Amino acid sequence: MRQKSISELFETEKCVNICAPMVRYSKLPFRLLVRQYGCHVACTPMIVADAFTQSERARHIEFTTNKGKMGIDFYDRPLVVQFAANNAEDFAAATELVYNHSDGVNLNCGCPQQWAMSKNLGAFLLTNPQLVSDMIRQTRNRIPSTSDNFSISAKIRIDSNIGKSVDFCRQIQNAGVDWIAIHSRTVKQRCEPINIDSLRIIRESLDIPVVANGDIWTQEDARVIQKETGVSGVMCARGLLQNPEMFSQTDQGTTSIECIKKWLDIATETGICLNLMQHHLLYM
Ligand SMILES: Cc1cc2nc3c(=O)[nH]c(=O)nc-3n(C[C@H](O)[C@H](O)[C@H](O)COP(=O)(O)O)c2cc1C
Repeated sequence: MRQKSISELFETEKCVNICAPMVRYSKLPFRLLVRQYGCHVACTPMIVADAFTQSERARHIEFTTNKGKMGIDFYDRPLVVQFAANNAEDFAAATELVYNHSDGVNLNCGCPQQWAMSKNLGAFLLTNPQLVSDMIRQTRNRIPSTSDNFSISAKIRIDSNIGKSVDFCRQIQNAGVDWIAIHSRTVKQRCEPINIDSLRIIRESLDIPVVANGDIWTQEDARVIQKETGVSGVMCARGLLQNPEMFSQTDQGTTSIECIKKWLDIATETGICLNLMQHHLLYM
């Protein structure tokens, strides 16, 4: 069966289920696991675009995918590669490198960590919608014109002044971004509840699909947030780490033994390091 593009998924699925970018964790083995349990789209961990373009070693370490030929035989698509970049050249050049091996790229505009902000990466970009618009336009221009199905997206955090977030999103929408994932917390917030009203206001202000992120732990959480905001999909990080089956029709609310067995098979097949395999087991 032909694989649906990300835009087709947004058109046809009631709720597009997305595995969030997670440094260290959303690598090929975990993506292969969640794809077996109702995950429509999976993201790589954040990759710093300039190192990626400059160093072959960085590329080997940071980006691995498959062609559906492993024993587990699950194809690692649709795949979104998330980049941290602070200029159009780096974002466009990194996108060119993954274009043939993925279905889209996502620009990280939400990482609040000090090291990222100090390099004008992540949430720093929220202060400069013009730059982000330029990055999106130039990247779009650099990929082949036949590539209508290649999606360019962004992941943002909200501003305490919701008007600013709406302006930011509208500008990048006009620049050609295909969808936006919104972690509905401000850059300073960590464990506070997500802001549902802001999410709804942003969604109502845009014509492109908006994806909700933050504190979605179960399908019931996803259903409620979708009902309250009208988002087109949900992106989950910690909920999936704890329960890789959370998107599945047959989810029981906790990780089943069958899922753990699948994880051990994938871990063996892909040869991931013991430490990471154990971390995942601890989460589950
Ligand atoms: C272990 C871990 C790694 C993360 N790495 C990234 C990342 O690489 N890029 C990114 O945009 N967000 C990253 N995040 C943030 C998540 O994608 C997500 O925005 C946040 O955890 C809130 O969603 P949740 O409540 O579903 O966990 C990470 C979160 C966790 C827990």
